[in-house]
Amino acid sequence: MVRMCRRSVLRLLLSAALPFFALTSQSQQTTLLVDIDNRPQTSLNGPWHYIPDPVRDGWGSNPDHASLNGYAKNAHYVPGGPLVQYDFARSPTLDIPGDWNSQKDSLFYYEGLLWYQRDFTWHPKPRTHVFVHFGSANYAAHIFVNDAHVCDHEGGFTPFDCEITDTVKDGDNFIVAAVDNQRAVERVPTVKFDWWNYGGITRPVSLVEVPESYIDDYSLQLKRGLPNSDHAQLEGYVHLVGAGPGTRVTFSIPGLHIEKDAVTDTNGRAEFSFAAPGLELWSPERPRLYEISLHAGSDELKDDIGFRTIEVQGDQILLNGKPVFLRGVSFHDEAPFRSGRSWSDKDAESLLGWAHELHCNFVRMAHYPHAENEYRLADKLGIMVWSEIPVYWGIDWTDPHTLDGAKQQLHEMIRRGHNHASVILWSMSNETPESPERDAFIHQLAQQARSEDPTRLVTSAIVTHFEGTTATLDDPLGQDLDVLGYNEYLGWYQGKPADIPNYTWQNPLGKPVIISEFGAGAKAGLHGPDTEMFTEEYQDNVFRQQFQMLGKIPFLRGMTPWVLMDFRSPMRQLPGIQDDYNRKGLVSDKGEKKKAFFTLQDYYAHMQQ
Ligand code: GCU
Repeated sequence: MVRMCRRSVLRLLLSAALPFFALTSQSQQTTLLVDIDNRPQTSLNGPWHYIPDPVRDGWGSNPDHASLNGYAKNAHYVPGGPLVQYDFARSPTLDIPGDWNSQKDSLFYYEGLLWYQRDFTWHPKPRTHVFVHFGSANYAAHIFVNDAHVCDHEGGFTPFDCEITDTVKDGDNFIVAAVDNQRAVERVPTVKFDWWNYGGITRPVSLVEVPESYIDDYSLQLKRGLPNSDHAQLEGYVHLVGAGPGTRVTFSIPGLHIEKDAVTDTNGRAEFSFAAPGLELWSPERPRLYEISLHAGSDELKDDIGFRTIEVQGDQILLNGKPVFLRGVSFHDEAPFRSGRSWSDKDAESLLGWAHELHCNFVRMAHYPHAENEYRLADKLGIMVWSEIPVYWGIDWTDPHTLDGAKQQLHEMIRRGHNHASVILWSMSNETPESPERDAFIHQLAQQARSEDPTRLVTSAIVTHFEGTTATLDDPLGQDLDVLGYNEYLGWYQGKPADIPNYTWQNPLGKPVIISEFGAGAKAGLHGPDTEMFTEEYQDNVFRQQFQMLGKIPFLRGMTPWVLMDFRSPMRQLPGIQDDYNRKGLVSDKGEKKKAFFTLQDYYAHMQQ
């Protein structure tokens, strides 16, 4: 036992806390490069060494050994050398991308700080910026390159980019990432949510290069309200970083034989507005994508985008000026077959493939921004998307840090997603308890969404409250929404399946309504009477009874039953039936389709006729 004088103990205790808060309060800026899939990238995916750090000692808490104790130093233990109490090179590895919970039994329930490290080689190019890109890291991330602190990021489901141009060396380098998935009241989501708190670097990591002056963002949208595609007018902008006013920007759409020039203003922004005769609109029936290319100075960016309009008129949702019914399904970003956080193209193909098999033209990506490859695939498949930030259940409405976190996640979701034709709805929240503080909080988010992206619609999923057998959809939140999402669990959490058709619905706000959740649990392969919960027959009967009720709601414009696939949740502990999974899936976590899958498939098939 090393005896320390009171002063040293106090200093040690203080310093143990300081680095953590100092790091988060420094919160070096990250940026968010758009469309990086079409930029030169060097993958940093693969095995990274890791060290769990539940007591947060790795911040270099002990100034006496600061030169060796901080994990960001990436020191190595040398027998006979100075005291070093960690060594990444001697530590096990985790595969990146991938949450840590589903990779190691010892990390299945782990919540806290965990350090990652890998080496990488780099050869800087002149007049080139280099960023390290993270598809996502849940929940907070602190990034170091060659022991220099390069950025921090909070929010578990949106990408971020840290510039390392001045930190990276020619030759050997190393990167250290401290990721912390500790639930906390002030975080978004807060401490209780019905999904697994998968921690870690959950989506791909790469080094991304851009020239000195580069395309920071762009948008090109079909102007609303024009009679048909023969009079199509495209409007948009390109924003450059590092370019002065008067820089020429060229927007090309080879498929339409269009090439347009514009010049940047003092803010680096070039505006475009031009006719696009013969443009073919994007729709579920014909998800037409056009290759576009942008040139600005030495930078070039390509993308595949679709052109469509989405708007509301009374209690109708109009796609390309025509009423549309959204045949949807909700799903979590849970990896089919292996479980864990979804991230691969194969995961996206499995999940959206099942939605396509159900004859869906719509999906609700619950309850947080999903991996970007799902949005790209939805663009290609012609599946419209409800995209959501995790303002879920009882958020800390009065904490300014919480509001800042929600605003930042909303900004990042929109910035990453606003060129995906599939995205039609930005969702501000899910099942938040009514209060003036909640209304004020979400009002700010709705205003921000409309300001950042006036071309899409704003929604939220709200808990349905019934008076007897009548639901009146008058939650004050509806004032701020274009489309009202309502969740109800008649036949599961409330009432008997046989009574579902007796329920009626009132819509005093006169806005379009989506039933954004309904459903029931079933263990795949468990069969019995349709009165026995958790049998496939029970779940199937709930769907059948729901259809009888939903079919009579005159202002219903869509539905996203809960849920496409079983997903892990610590709230689902019934042994032999749930075993850590929410079993409301139409498909099990192992890909087994339940009876209700085919009932929904048949219902949507008939709706299409
Ligand atoms: C809620 C919630 C979902 C949850 C579901 C359930 O409506 O929005 O996240 O998983 O109910 O209880 O299964």
